[in-house]
Amino acid sequence: MTPKHIGFIMDGNGRWAQGKGMSRSMGYAHGLEALLKVAEACAKKGVQVISVYAFSTENIARPDEEQQAIFDVVARFNDNYDGDMRVIYMGDIDALPERVAQSVEHVERHTLNNKGMMMNVALNYGARDDIIHAAKLAYDAGDFTLQAFENNLSSGGLPPLDMIVRTGGEKRLSNFMLYEAAYAELVFLDKLWPDMTAEDVQFVLDEFSRRDRKFGK
Ligand code: FPP
Repeated sequence: MTPKHIGFIMDGNGRWAQGKGMSRSMGYAHGLEALLKVAEACAKKGVQVISVYAFSTENIARPDEEQQAIFDVVARFNDNYDGDMRVIYMGDIDALPERVAQSVEHVERHTLNNKGMMMNVALNYGARDDIIHAAKLAYDAGDFTLQAFENNLSSGGLPPLDMIVRTGGEKRLSNFMLYEAAYAELVFLDKLWPDMTAEDVQFVLDEFSRRDRKFGK
Protein backbone atom coordinates (compact mmCIF):
# COMPACT_ATOMS: atom_id res chain seq x y z
CA MET A 1 0.00 0.00 0.00
CA THR A 2 1.15 3.52 -0.76
CA PRO A 3 1.10 5.95 2.17
CA LYS A 4 -1.31 8.82 1.61
CA HIS A 5 0.62 11.28 3.76
CA ILE A 6 4.38 11.29 4.49
CA GLY A 7 6.23 13.69 6.78
CA PHE A 8 9.86 14.51 6.03
CA ILE A 9 12.32 15.87 8.60
CA MET A 10 14.94 17.19 6.20
CA ASP A 11 18.01 16.98 8.42
CA GLY A 12 21.66 17.28 7.48
CA ASN A 13 21.75 20.25 5.07
CA GLY A 14 24.36 22.18 7.06
CA ARG A 15 26.58 19.13 7.55
CA TRP A 16 26.29 18.28 3.84
CA ALA A 17 27.51 21.74 2.84
CA GLN A 18 30.32 21.74 5.41
CA GLY A 19 31.43 18.33 4.14
CA LYS A 20 31.80 19.86 0.69
CA GLY A 21 33.78 22.83 2.00
CA MET A 22 30.85 25.27 1.63
CA SER A 23 29.20 27.41 4.30
CA ARG A 24 26.32 25.70 6.15
CA SER A 25 23.91 28.19 4.60
CA MET A 26 24.63 26.82 1.09
CA GLY A 27 23.14 23.51 2.21
CA TYR A 28 19.58 24.83 2.15
CA ALA A 29 19.54 25.64 -1.58
CA HIS A 30 20.75 22.09 -2.25
CA GLY A 31 18.17 20.88 0.26
CA LEU A 32 15.42 22.50 -1.81
CA GLU A 33 16.68 20.73 -4.95
CA ALA A 34 16.49 17.41 -3.10
CA LEU A 35 13.00 18.28 -1.86
CA LEU A 36 11.77 18.88 -5.41
CA LYS A 37 13.18 15.49 -6.48
CA VAL A 38 11.59 13.75 -3.49
CA ALA A 39 8.25 15.50 -4.09
CA GLU A 40 8.23 14.49 -7.76
CA ALA A 41 8.99 10.87 -6.87
CA CYS A 42 6.26 10.83 -4.19
CA ALA A 43 3.71 12.34 -6.58
CA LYS A 44 4.56 9.74 -9.24
CA LYS A 45 3.92 6.97 -6.72
CA GLY A 46 0.51 8.33 -5.79
CA VAL A 47 1.28 9.93 -2.41
CA GLN A 48 -1.40 12.57 -1.74
CA VAL A 49 0.37 14.84 0.77
CA ILE A 50 3.90 15.44 1.97
CA SER A 51 4.51 17.55 5.08
CA VAL A 52 8.04 18.94 5.28
CA TYR A 53 9.83 20.53 8.23
CA ALA A 54 11.49 23.70 6.93
CA PHE A 55 11.88 25.81 10.09
CA SER A 56 10.95 25.02 13.67
CA THR A 57 10.06 27.59 16.33
CA GLU A 58 13.33 26.54 18.02
CA ASN A 59 15.38 27.33 14.86
CA ILE A 60 15.00 31.01 15.77
CA ALA A 61 17.98 30.46 18.11
CA ARG A 62 20.24 29.78 15.09
CA PRO A 63 22.71 32.38 13.84
CA ASP A 64 20.97 35.10 11.88
CA GLU A 65 22.88 34.28 8.68
CA GLU A 66 21.60 30.72 8.73
CA GLN A 67 17.99 31.80 9.39
CA GLN A 68 18.18 34.28 6.52
CA ALA A 69 19.56 31.55 4.22
CA ILE A 70 16.58 29.31 4.98
CA PHE A 71 14.12 32.18 4.53
CA ASP A 72 15.77 33.17 1.22
CA VAL A 73 15.42 29.66 -0.16
CA VAL A 74 11.82 29.38 1.01
CA ALA A 75 10.81 32.84 -0.30
CA ARG A 76 12.50 32.27 -3.67
CA PHE A 77 10.67 28.97 -4.04
CA ASN A 78 7.33 30.55 -3.08
CA ASP A 79 7.75 33.49 -5.45
CA ASN A 80 8.73 31.35 -8.44
CA TYR A 81 7.01 27.98 -8.06
CA ASP A 82 5.07 27.12 -11.19
CA GLY A 83 4.51 23.37 -10.91
CA ASP A 84 1.31 21.42 -10.31
CA MET A 85 1.59 20.83 -6.56
CA ARG A 86 -0.76 22.62 -4.22
CA VAL A 87 1.49 24.30 -1.62
CA ILE A 88 0.18 25.12 1.85
CA TYR A 89 1.93 26.23 5.04
CA MET A 90 1.52 25.59 8.76
CA GLY A 91 3.17 27.50 11.62
CA ASP A 92 3.31 31.07 12.87
CA ILE A 93 3.86 32.73 9.49
CA ASP A 94 2.81 36.22 10.64
CA ALA A 95 5.79 36.38 13.01
CA LEU A 96 8.24 35.95 10.11
CA PRO A 97 9.85 38.75 8.08
CA GLU A 98 7.26 40.37 5.81
CA ARG A 99 8.87 39.25 2.54
CA VAL A 100 8.61 35.63 3.73
CA ALA A 101 5.00 35.98 4.92
CA GLN A 102 4.06 37.63 1.60
CA SER A 103 5.74 34.87 -0.41
CA VAL A 104 3.75 32.28 1.57
CA GLU A 105 0.51 34.09 0.81
CA HIS A 106 1.52 34.27 -2.86
CA VAL A 107 2.30 30.58 -3.34
CA GLU A 108 -0.79 29.45 -1.41
CA ARG A 109 -2.98 31.64 -3.62
CA HIS A 110 -1.12 30.80 -6.84
CA THR A 111 -1.38 27.01 -6.32
CA LEU A 112 -4.86 26.95 -4.72
CA ASN A 113 -6.54 25.19 -7.65
CA ASN A 114 -3.63 22.90 -8.55
CA LYS A 115 -4.58 19.27 -8.87
CA GLY A 116 -1.20 17.67 -8.12
CA MET A 117 0.12 16.39 -4.80
CA MET A 118 -0.20 18.68 -1.81
CA MET A 119 2.96 19.96 -0.12
CA ASN A 120 2.38 21.16 3.44
CA VAL A 121 5.38 23.17 4.64
CA ALA A 122 6.00 23.51 8.40
CA LEU A 123 7.57 26.95 8.84
CA ASN A 124 8.09 28.60 12.23
CA TYR A 125 6.18 25.55 13.42
CA GLY A 126 6.26 23.61 16.68
CA ALA A 127 3.95 20.68 17.41
CA ARG A 128 3.55 21.49 21.11
CA ASP A 129 2.35 25.04 20.31
CA ASP A 130 0.01 23.62 17.68
CA ILE A 131 -1.49 21.16 20.19
CA ILE A 132 -1.99 23.88 22.82
CA HIS A 133 -3.64 26.09 20.19
CA ALA A 134 -5.97 23.26 19.15
CA ALA A 135 -6.83 22.62 22.80
CA LYS A 136 -7.67 26.32 23.33
CA LEU A 137 -9.99 26.28 20.31
CA ALA A 138 -11.68 23.14 21.66
CA TYR A 139 -12.07 24.81 25.07
CA ASP A 140 -13.54 27.98 23.55
CA ALA A 141 -15.99 25.95 21.46
CA GLY A 142 -16.78 23.58 24.35
CA ASP A 143 -16.20 20.70 21.95
CA PHE A 144 -13.78 18.08 23.20
CA THR A 145 -14.45 15.31 20.70
CA LEU A 146 -11.41 13.75 19.05
CA GLN A 147 -12.70 14.78 15.63
CA ALA A 148 -13.11 18.44 16.61
CA PHE A 149 -9.68 18.49 18.27
CA GLU A 150 -7.98 17.02 15.21
CA ASN A 151 -9.69 19.53 12.94
CA ASN A 152 -8.26 22.31 15.12
CA LEU A 153 -4.68 21.19 14.46
CA SER A 154 -2.81 22.88 11.60
CA SER A 155 -2.98 19.57 9.77
CA GLY A 156 -6.77 19.40 10.22
CA GLY A 157 -8.44 18.23 7.04
CA LEU A 158 -5.34 16.45 5.72
CA PRO A 159 -5.27 12.65 5.57
CA PRO A 160 -3.70 10.95 8.64
CA LEU A 161 0.08 10.94 8.68
CA ASP A 162 1.16 7.42 7.64
CA MET A 163 4.92 7.73 7.88
CA ILE A 164 7.66 10.10 9.01
CA VAL A 165 11.07 9.93 7.33
CA ARG A 166 14.03 11.65 8.99
CA THR A 167 17.39 11.93 7.28
CA GLY A 168 20.72 12.84 8.85
CA GLY A 169 21.14 9.98 11.32
CA GLU A 170 19.28 11.39 14.36
CA LYS A 171 16.41 9.29 15.70
CA ARG A 172 13.96 11.77 17.18
CA LEU A 173 10.92 13.82 16.12
CA SER A 174 12.14 17.24 17.29
CA ASN A 175 8.66 18.69 17.90
CA PHE A 176 7.37 17.76 14.41
CA MET A 177 3.70 16.66 14.12
CA LEU A 178 3.77 14.93 17.52
CA TYR A 179 0.02 14.35 17.74
CA GLU A 180 -0.23 13.24 14.10
CA ALA A 181 2.69 10.83 14.64
CA ALA A 182 0.60 8.62 16.95
CA TYR A 183 0.38 5.78 14.41
CA ALA A 184 2.89 6.92 11.81
CA GLU A 185 5.60 4.49 10.77
CA LEU A 186 9.01 5.97 11.55
CA VAL A 187 11.93 5.62 9.14
CA PHE A 188 15.37 7.01 9.95
CA LEU A 189 18.00 7.28 7.25
CA ASP A 190 21.69 8.04 7.80
CA LYS A 191 22.07 9.93 4.56
CA LEU A 192 22.03 13.72 4.60
CA TRP A 193 18.95 15.42 3.12
CA PRO A 194 20.60 16.99 0.01
CA ASP A 195 21.68 13.47 -1.05
CA MET A 196 18.07 12.22 -1.23
CA THR A 197 17.01 10.77 -4.59
CA ALA A 198 13.98 9.14 -6.22
CA GLU A 199 15.57 5.76 -5.35
CA ASP A 200 15.50 6.67 -1.68
CA VAL A 201 11.80 7.45 -1.99
CA GLN A 202 11.29 3.98 -3.46
CA PHE A 203 13.28 2.54 -0.53
CA VAL A 204 11.06 4.21 2.09
CA LEU A 205 7.88 3.22 0.23
CA ASP A 206 9.10 -0.41 0.16
CA GLU A 207 9.89 -0.16 3.86
CA PHE A 208 6.37 1.14 4.51
CA SER A 209 4.80 -1.76 2.65
CA ARG A 210 6.77 -4.21 4.81
CA ARG A 211 5.42 -2.72 8.05
CA ASP A 212 2.54 -4.49 9.77
CA ARG A 213 0.22 -1.67 10.84
CA LYS A 214 -2.07 -2.70 13.68
CA PHE A 215 -3.25 0.64 15.08
CA GLY A 216 -3.20 -0.89 18.56
CA LYS A 217 -5.46 -3.81 17.58
C1 FPP B 1 17.66 20.85 9.23
O1 FPP B 1 18.93 20.63 8.67
C2 FPP B 1 16.85 21.53 8.22
C3 FPP B 1 16.42 22.80 8.28
C4 FPP B 1 16.61 23.64 9.48
C5 FPP B 1 15.73 23.47 7.15
C6 FPP B 1 15.59 22.70 5.84
C7 FPP B 1 15.02 23.59 4.79
C8 FPP B 1 15.13 23.36 3.47
C9 FPP B 1 15.84 22.19 2.93
C10 FPP B 1 14.48 24.32 2.51
C11 FPP B 1 13.12 23.81 2.14
C12 FPP B 1 12.43 24.72 1.22
C13 FPP B 1 11.08 24.77 1.08
C14 FPP B 1 10.50 25.69 0.09
C15 FPP B 1 10.14 23.95 1.85
P1 FPP B 1 20.25 21.27 9.25
O2 FPP B 1 20.93 21.98 8.19
O3 FPP B 1 19.94 21.97 10.51
O4 FPP B 1 21.05 19.97 9.57
P2 FPP B 1 22.46 19.77 10.26
O5 FPP B 1 22.82 20.99 11.03
O6 FPP B 1 22.19 18.61 11.13
O7 FPP B 1 23.40 19.47 9.16
